[in-house]
Amino acid sequence: MSQRISLTQFLIEEQRAARVPADLRLLLEVVARAVKAIGVTVSKGALAGVLGEAGTENVQGEEQKKLDVISNEILLQANEWGGYLAAMASEELETIYPVPPNYPKGDYLLLFDPLDGSSNIDVNVTIGTIFSVLRNPQAKDKTPTEADFLQPGRDQIAAGYVAYGPSTQLVLTVGDGVHGFTLDRETGDFIYTNPFMTLPAETREYAINASNARHWEAPVQRYIAELQQGKTGPRGSDFNMRWIASMVADVHRVLTRGGIFMYPLDEKCRAKGGKLRLMYEANPMAMLVEQAGGAATTGRTRILDIIPERLHQRVPVILGSRAEVERVTSYHLDPAP
Ligand code: AHG
Ligand code: MN
Ligand code: MN
Repeated sequence: MSQRISLTQFLIEEQRAARVPADLRLLLEVVARAVKAIGVTVSKGALAGVLGEAGTENVQGEEQKKLDVISNEILLQANEWGGYLAAMASEELETIYPVPPNYPKGDYLLLFDPLDGSSNIDVNVTIGTIFSVLRNPQAKDKTPTEADFLQPGRDQIAAGYVAYGPSTQLVLTVGDGVHGFTLDRETGDFIYTNPFMTLPAETREYAINASNARHWEAPVQRYIAELQQGKTGPRGSDFNMRWIASMVADVHRVLTRGGIFMYPLDEKCRAKGGKLRLMYEANPMAMLVEQAGGAATTGRTRILDIIPERLHQRVPVILGSRAEVERVTSYHLDPAP
């Protein structure tokens, strides 16, 4: 019988190999415990009365769904008392959440998008959680500030996401490849099912919200038009399109079988800088994709090199199979077709 390796065993072995310090291992275990609780709530759906609007708005002016609020609470409560964190930041919170003074402070900062793909909650389509771990640059006796979070993505200590789909999968990197785990709902363990996920350099599949086509910049218009011309166009090949509208689900597909995912700059989102959030959407996904052999850019800059200016900063995102991402980048650098 092939041996089943749990997330716990995987992390202990990473610790023994000196790739994961003990406190980071505990942090990741607690995140895994919290997302199991979110997954249980998600799977109950209408039976638990968790669908629909919360009736409130978050700091970005977006309507909050009940599950946005519930998932945020679960992550905050699970992570505030363990002693390995100094502060947290979330899509759903205006500013940072320092660990309450009655708990010990630790060496890390945790950022998350507690519930990604909110528009898919009520239609029973895959949604997710995205998280990013940074080092706490402050001395332990100081309360962290928002400025302490504004570190470039290349300094992330760990990053991951959880997809609540037909199965619940956790995908993680601590800077040594990308590792996937599937939740065994009977035992409650995340089992190591996808070691060293890599994505092929070439792909024939792309993901973009095509309803924004008229707002795209010229380089993106050109790239997508060439894909759509298929066999008879300049690419000499047919391309397929998928758009789930949950970044977690779309990126999970890209990490599983290759592809390119794009939420580029367009005239609709230009004033905000982009649609997706740098610190808890773009950065963790960019780290995962690069660790899997892919690339992630705004079209002009490597995402992991961006020095953040604001906690809720937005950026254009183009990520996935390296050859395709490089092609889109080259169109941005030399816009003349
Ligand atoms: P969130 O639900 O956390 O606000 O994120 C939604 C994001 C992302 O998951 C997805 O790729 C994108 O919004 C979908 O946007 P469109 O509805 O414009 O396609
Ligand atoms: Mn999101
Ligand atoms: Mn969200």
